[in-house]
Amino acid sequence: MTPADFASIDARPQFPADYRPNVAIVGIGGIVKSSHLPAYMKYGIPVAAVYDIRPEATEGIQNEFHIGRVAKSFEEILDDPSVEVVDIATFPEHRIPLVKQALEAGKHVLSQKPLALDMTSAQELVDLADTRGLKLAVNQNGRWSPPWRAATMLLGAGAIGEPIAVTHLLDRSYRWTIGTHFEKIPHWAIYDYTVHWIDITRTWMGDLKPVAVRGRDYRTPNQPPESLTPWGLTIEIDYENGATALIRATGGEPGEPEGHPFFINGTEGKIWGSALGREFVELYRGDEHLTYELEGAWFPDGFGGTMGELLSAIAEDREPSNSARHNLGSLQLTLAAVASAEQNGIPIVIA
Ligand SMILES: NC(=O)c1ccc[n+]([C@@H]2O[C@H](COP(=O)([O-])OP(=O)(O)OC[C@H]3O[C@@H](n4cnc5c(N)ncnc54)[C@H](O)[C@@H]3O)[C@@H](O)[C@H]2O)c1
Repeated sequence: MTPADFASIDARPQFPADYRPNVAIVGIGGIVKSSHLPAYMKYGIPVAAVYDIRPEATEGIQNEFHIGRVAKSFEEILDDPSVEVVDIATFPEHRIPLVKQALEAGKHVLSQKPLALDMTSAQELVDLADTRGLKLAVNQNGRWSPPWRAATMLLGAGAIGEPIAVTHLLDRSYRWTIGTHFEKIPHWAIYDYTVHWIDITRTWMGDLKPVAVRGRDYRTPNQPPESLTPWGLTIEIDYENGATALIRATGGEPGEPEGHPFFINGTEGKIWGSALGREFVELYRGDEHLTYELEGAWFPDGFGGTMGELLSAIAEDREPSNSARHNLGSLQLTLAAVASAEQNGIPIVIA
């Protein structure tokens, strides 16, 4: 087979043909305004209501994003029978009880990432959704970054055989975190940010069993003294069959060019590309290669991808590929990388 045999990859978000239920969004912070709402406008997802505990967070957005109404309480959303899906985008410490309440009220839920602070509460959410017969998906929107989505589809089609190595470089300055709430999150760069890279690696490696994770985060030599959270990191994952993954963030200074290149080596070929900044993906087999034409970008189209997959799963009554159950594996690796970083990079064995 040649790369041309894998030419028909459509990496765009997919939506069910005849199902556009009312969605409500809870926690109207930076990411909802910059990405959730623009994506839902673009893809025709009806936003019936929004709610934030801080009234100023929802000021002036109703007309801009064609929002049905600004709710006065979370309960108002839960009590609205016309709302079928609740998109909850607060930080995990506030989110877990909200996700539980929404599931108990009979709503399907899209939860922002990281799914939880620990595995026990993540598992409880999965079990609760199962008991109630509801779908619980995680907003790992990076999975619908066009180059990453194309790579996922190529792996699924067997375009490079079995994956044997995944390598990511994050070369972006984290200067934008200075003075934000992100700096207060322990091991922010691993837990809150690189969770997308860990999640896509877990997705690409499929059923391969991870056996050990090493994580290290550190201040880079030129990191501004006023920045509070380490910008540099390395995360390594070993798999039972000898496959490996490496994720490295440089801290990105002193600025342009920025990029997020990745390589996937397989038994029959190679995929390489870049997920953010400069976006592309190419497939190599033997002497030939193919460069894919991609539409859209991670921000905001990835947010259409996660919601589209949840809606498709509801319409088809199947598990979404971004289900909380699937996400347990990503969360486990993320928490292991954090635990390793806490202990200066010792390997954490994955049982
Ligand atoms: N690519 C991505 O998917 C991406 C990017 C950035 C942030 N995030 C994630 O999104 C989440 C939010 O990040 P952010 O940067 O938007 O934060 P933010 O602080 O800007 O927004 C959080 C919002 O939640 C609201 N809130 C808190 N408790 C609430 C409650 N009980 N009920 C209703 N509203 C409540 C706050 O008032 C605030 O407006 C985090 O988990 C973060 O990791 C994801």
